[in-house]
Amino acid sequence: MATKQQSGDVAAAETMKVAPATGKLGVMIVGLGAVATTMIAGVEAVRRGLAKPIGSLTQMGVIEDGDGAELIREFVPLAELSDLVFTGWDIFADNVYEAAAHARVLDKELLEELKPFLETIKPMPAVFDQHYVKRLHGTHVKTGKNKRELAEQVREDIRNFSKTVDRMVMIWCGSTEIYLEPGAVHESIEAFEKGLEANDPGIAPSQIYAYAALSEGVPFANGAPNLTVDAKALIELSRKNAAPICGKDFKTGQTFMKTVLAPALRVRSLGVAGWFSTNILGNRAGEVLDDPECFKTKEESSLGALEHNLQQEVYPDLYKDLYHKIRINYYTPRGDDKEAWDNIDIFGWLGYPMQIKVNFLCRDSILAAPIALDLVLLLDLAKRAPQLRSTGVQEWLGFYLKSPQTAEGHAPEHDLFAQLVNLKNTLRPLRWGSRR
Ligand SMILES: NC(=O)c1ccc[n+]([C@@H]2O[C@H](COP(=O)([O-])OP(=O)(O)OC[C@H]3O[C@@H](n4cnc5c(N)ncnc54)[C@H](O)[C@@H]3O)[C@@H](O)[C@H]2O)c1
Repeated sequence: MATKQQSGDVAAAETMKVAPATGKLGVMIVGLGAVATTMIAGVEAVRRGLAKPIGSLTQMGVIEDGDGAELIREFVPLAELSDLVFTGWDIFADNVYEAAAHARVLDKELLEELKPFLETIKPMPAVFDQHYVKRLHGTHVKTGKNKRELAEQVREDIRNFSKTVDRMVMIWCGSTEIYLEPGAVHESIEAFEKGLEANDPGIAPSQIYAYAALSEGVPFANGAPNLTVDAKALIELSRKNAAPICGKDFKTGQTFMKTVLAPALRVRSLGVAGWFSTNILGNRAGEVLDDPECFKTKEESSLGALEHNLQQEVYPDLYKDLYHKIRINYYTPRGDDKEAWDNIDIFGWLGYPMQIKVNFLCRDSILAAPIALDLVLLLDLAKRAPQLRSTGVQEWLGFYLKSPQTAEGHAPEHDLFAQLVNLKNTLRPLRWGSRR
């Protein structure tokens, strides 16, 4: 006969069970630009067997458990790519085929092959205000008396889409907004709602979408460095409605390299005197970042990853004088094919100086698209896992982001491999929960 303790354990496990990923997962994307269209076209290409989902941990990565390694997508109940349904908003009316052609990331031949599918995805009119993204002039935008009415319209869009799918996730793949700091309007849900009514300038469009998603219980991810859900009111809303959120800004090129190299230097007790990062890129994201106010948002998000990794307070002899500089240059001939240079001035035994040069010829959206996909799939998983959704902020997704979000009082983890351990340790108990 089962003891009281054992039946208690079984009952607890039952309530912790992850709901299966049955039915369609609706992916609502804010901003159908280079990253979003590369993700959508990529998913369709994989579904048709034309390519492999390279760069996606959920699709290609494994998790080690007991008797060997198993693919993550088989280890935990993730939505199948065949069950993803896409929709979105943009300030331009171009359908996803047109937007992908404009972004010039993917080959023409591939886009032509996928055209009939891509053309069917047309953006809904956006919530936009040029005050927050100076370089863009939106034509396909919603109008309303105040920000509350605009939020209502987005909620209406979500409710309409929900009739065609079983579950939903929203992801911001929109442009980087100007730098904003949390203010009184972000202190509580009540203050935020009053601010919507009063058109408070502290509320950016990205926060209107996030508010709408979280109010509808829909998880929200932020691929850009905007403040967005990094604000008390939205964290509270996420917890209240069990709608998971995570940090911000896809960790793709140079920051990805920083979060690998910096821990390596630190564990070998090598000093770093300076780290100069610069790059050239000519896509629309680069054009937006050419505006100093938007660049500041990006700079703040990118700077933290290195400083946190090197732990200057813990190792003053090695890192206290670190000079860290980031320069992003809009240079049209390169389009999405960014070229990035890092010059790292390090010092070793007895303080003797040395240098490391990293020259990364990357493709911005090719690196970001699988991250966007993974965040969508893992936030959907979090929403189906009672033990995860109730916490709101998903620290374990910091692996994918330049600015990981943490529960109050927790220090963010920036070491890529420590982040991977956190992610896998979060997934391990979910297997047991899902397969019983
Ligand atoms: N590609 C990367 O490696 C990478 C890495 C980290 C972060 N990001 C961020 O991801 C975001 C998307 O990058 P991208 O290269 O696709 O940029 P993009 O300029 O090609 O696409 C952004 C899209 O968002 C739309 N948009 C802007 N404001 C909007 C609003 N309020 N509502 C709806 N749509 C809106 C624009 O019209 C555009 O189509 C950017 O903020 C970028 O900084 C990209």
